[in-house]
Amino acid sequence: MTFQIKSIEQYHSVYQKSVEDPEGFWAEIASDFIWKKPWDTVLDWDFNHYKVKWFGGGKLNITESCLDRHALHKPNQPAIIWEANDPHEDSVTLTYKVLYERVCRFSNVLKKNGIGKGDRVCIYMPMIPELAIALLACARVGAIHSVVFGGFSAQSIADRINDSECKMVITTDGAQRGAKSIPMKETVDDALTSCPSVKKVIVATRTRNPVSMIKGRDVWWEEEIKHVTMDCPAEEMDAEDPLFILYTSGSTGKPKGVVHTCGGYMVYSTYTFQNVFQYHPGDVYFCTADIGWITGHSYIVYGPLASGAITMMFEGVPTYPDAGRFWDIIDKHKVNTFYTAPTAIRSLMGFGDEYLEGKDLSSLKVLGSVGEPINEEAWNWYNEKIGKFNCPIADTWWQTETGGIMISPIANITKTKPSFATLPLPGVQPILVDDQGEEIVGNGVNGNLCIKFPWPGIIRTTWGDHKRCQDTYFSIYKGLYFTGDGCQRDEDGYYKITGRVDDVINVSGHRIGTAEVENAINMHTGVVESAVVGYPHDIKGQGIYAYVICEEPPSDIHISKQDILMTVARIIGPIAKPDQIQFVTGLPKTRSGKIMRRVLRKVACNELDTLGDVSTLLNPEIVAELIEGKLKLD
Ligand code: WTA
Repeated sequence: MTFQIKSIEQYHSVYQKSVEDPEGFWAEIASDFIWKKPWDTVLDWDFNHYKVKWFGGGKLNITESCLDRHALHKPNQPAIIWEANDPHEDSVTLTYKVLYERVCRFSNVLKKNGIGKGDRVCIYMPMIPELAIALLACARVGAIHSVVFGGFSAQSIADRINDSECKMVITTDGAQRGAKSIPMKETVDDALTSCPSVKKVIVATRTRNPVSMIKGRDVWWEEEIKHVTMDCPAEEMDAEDPLFILYTSGSTGKPKGVVHTCGGYMVYSTYTFQNVFQYHPGDVYFCTADIGWITGHSYIVYGPLASGAITMMFEGVPTYPDAGRFWDIIDKHKVNTFYTAPTAIRSLMGFGDEYLEGKDLSSLKVLGSVGEPINEEAWNWYNEKIGKFNCPIADTWWQTETGGIMISPIANITKTKPSFATLPLPGVQPILVDDQGEEIVGNGVNGNLCIKFPWPGIIRTTWGDHKRCQDTYFSIYKGLYFTGDGCQRDEDGYYKITGRVDDVINVSGHRIGTAEVENAINMHTGVVESAVVGYPHDIKGQGIYAYVICEEPPSDIHISKQDILMTVARIIGPIAKPDQIQFVTGLPKTRSGKIMRRVLRKVACNELDTLGDVSTLLNPEIVAELIEGKLKLD
């Protein structure tokens, strides 16, 4: 942990250095990793014609920093501790040596099945150790992984596979989450009816439910590993070669494939892991995210493993067998650092404190929060009931596109404040701008959050469409990376993220584009048009509210709503199902025919006092109908 900041004074001086000499600052940190060849230039960048290159000319394989060096120096230290969905099933510990061997062996399986440098591999798996092994094996052979979260539908998998032309899918027979059995291979099979690029499917056994296995295409993980050795030298990669693609939703269109590269991402995810959580060797670290999201990539797999940490993987859900499961796991494994999402905190808070009774949480030293704004009530409960006023809370703000944490307290060093992400990490230069892009200076202000200088974990491109990357992130405010978030900077210079200012909804910490949900609803038979907005939801943070126009008024409203939910689940996945559906005969439109989303949001949020002037609408009379329908829903 060479680069851990140890005091607030040191934070300020390190931060200063990172702004004055970013190249010197990051070069020093990067030298703590395994490189096959050192870089020629630290940074090359242009935000106007978007291009960023970190550690240009450097050669490496990220798995040598994550595995080889630790397997050599501390072979018997646990790398991954896995806790099953079923509390009675034995947990599994993989030491660095064992993990290294399993990754090497599976790397050879990938090669044997035709996968090499630059090939794309789709991974659709539950939270089992094989998932981490699959990611690392792709990285070892230089293949680009594209993990798709288990809550997405066959259609969403197919879209993602086709966008990046994956050659292979790695999956399992099935999955068990809480009391639910979830088909995995079957969903992949449905997806593959329209994915000509996929030549091979590797199926790991988890539930051993019956699955179809197509000759020549589908092979079993357990069978394949018997026929290869565990000797697999790591492929030499350029620092700027893609490491992975992760699809994420934006304001418009289909999800974008965010591309992260080998060198910068490694340095950034690891540096931020070690600093934010103040990880100490031997600590047990538990991040509850799913590896299907960026948090799992950066803070279950790459950051912790490159740090030689003990990282936990949990297969289940926080409420199975009951709402005390997280606390049982912390007690059982003597967890020191616990990193979760506000939606989980709010939900568990709602079950009542009896689930905490008899649970020994005294091993905890540091708490973290990620994915959405954490409200004060949840922050206070987390601080009191879980941290016992003894554990700093790192409210970490970042995004799929940033690769790692950007604004966050450094545990035990930065003074925290409920619901504030506090201060930028070294190397991160935030700036607030107004809608015209003018910088908002000083403290006690609000604005659109942008970043004005590159950091090593920044998105490099959106797969197959660099212009889209430029247009989405670097064109709205000239010369700046735009986050899509609104932000307050208070009198102390502390940052508080106030939520998305674009058409992205954050549901239980999952990013969902309103346009995507609208497209799915519009595919439902009889639907003419729809408009989707977010509204405050006690547990999920935001809920999805859909206004739907049908050709004919539905004869049975309840069943029609259920049908629409099924269509959305089929097209995107259960996570995108609207929480509220209101059938309407029209949508408020401007004279140029654009939907007035502001009005829709105000009605959905019950903010009728601030509806504003609607007389300029093309159809002002529709507003009364919207309000009346909304009141009936309540
Ligand atoms: C939101 C998740 C407030 C934000 C790592 C961002 C947050 C989006 C926080 C990215 C936080 C994430 N406080 N809001 N601590 N962390 N967000 O790409 O709106 O899934 O833009 O990355 O989540 O979501 P993503």
